[in-house]
Amino acid sequence: MPQSIRTRVAIVGAGPAGLILSHLLAEEGIESVVIDRRTRAEIESTIRAGILEQGTVELLTRIDPGTRVQTVGERHDGIELRFQGEGHRIDFQALVGRSVWLYPQHEVLTDLLALRAGAGQDLRFGVTASGIDDTDPDQPRVIATDSQGDNVVIDADFVVGADGSRSVMRSAVAGASGNGVFREYPFAWFGILCDAPPSSDELIYSNSDDGFALISQRSPQVQRMYFQCDPGMDAQAPSEAEIWATLQARVPGTSLKRGPVFQRDVLSFRSFVAGELRRGRLALVGDAAHTVPPTGAKGMNLAVADVVLLARALHALLREDDSRLIDTYSERALRRIWKAQHFSWWMTGMLHTPPRGDDFDRRRQIGELRSVVESEAGRAYLAEAYTGWPLDV
Ligand code: PHB
Repeated sequence: MPQSIRTRVAIVGAGPAGLILSHLLAEEGIESVVIDRRTRAEIESTIRAGILEQGTVELLTRIDPGTRVQTVGERHDGIELRFQGEGHRIDFQALVGRSVWLYPQHEVLTDLLALRAGAGQDLRFGVTASGIDDTDPDQPRVIATDSQGDNVVIDADFVVGADGSRSVMRSAVAGASGNGVFREYPFAWFGILCDAPPSSDELIYSNSDDGFALISQRSPQVQRMYFQCDPGMDAQAPSEAEIWATLQARVPGTSLKRGPVFQRDVLSFRSFVAGELRRGRLALVGDAAHTVPPTGAKGMNLAVADVVLLARALHALLREDDSRLIDTYSERALRRIWKAQHFSWWMTGMLHTPPRGDDFDRRRQIGELRSVVESEAGRAYLAEAYTGWPLDV
């Protein structure tokens, strides 16, 4: 006999989206079960993006008295765009009165897991979902196995796929192929984590003739840096000396503080939006629904925005039997998703060197960068998009 669980909302995936959703539902008195195929330690140690929009930080601060976003995280009031060897600050506070916070995703997850576990949330680790049985469309059932390989079924009034870019839930919502819209990019990032002090107070997004580089941070002792590379590059190929030489050549004007490189990876770039975000009593949020290239720092923020919309819609559906918000969830979420897709695509194209670009491409790109930094309207658009549009509109 499979282990049988009954809940109101089954949430597949204990990443930021799934955990925040479980919290927002609990605030409305809606009980949920969250499953994840990973262990808690694995979730807490996944190194991912680091930039939180102001709206994301406001939400975390409201829901979690224990959040360390203001103490361990750091507020950033601007970024630097660098090209042709010159830095141009985009002053978020002066332009739009907003900021972002540098607070790595694994820290967000550590906070959220403690918050939800402390509140008695039913959280099950090592439970792998394999699909949905929606024979009864009003009572979708998640089919899963636990870490012993025993079957688990979860009967719910609603199922949410918050299970990341390799989502198993996606096909149940959007069809076997995900039926999505794709864009591949001829770019990738070679990323490192190193033990060193920060080289700059703010993030530097640097366009250079040799390719893009991003100087980011993780903490006062650990830095995250990236350089544009070929998507087929082997992460183990370059020596540390070669990595530093490449990075340094791409940020002329800043002397990078070096230290031992303890992690290296190659990140390929993709844009994706699933064909459907909701079918009947199933919905997708976060990376299960969409992927953006990392240049706009939108990934986790977009997941939070989905969840804010979905929590309200589930409250209306499950507490008030009102399906109007769930019926428009997809359409409303997609408005922001496509703005974020555009912003991420635009930042990517503006900052990276096209592999087979000619002189025209290069000069046009410098013209584009100048159009942004030399215009208050241009800088303000970048600042508004980077710090994030208002949530839940
Ligand atoms: C990061 O710190 O990992 C990071 C920051 C900004 C980005 C992308 C990644 O746009």
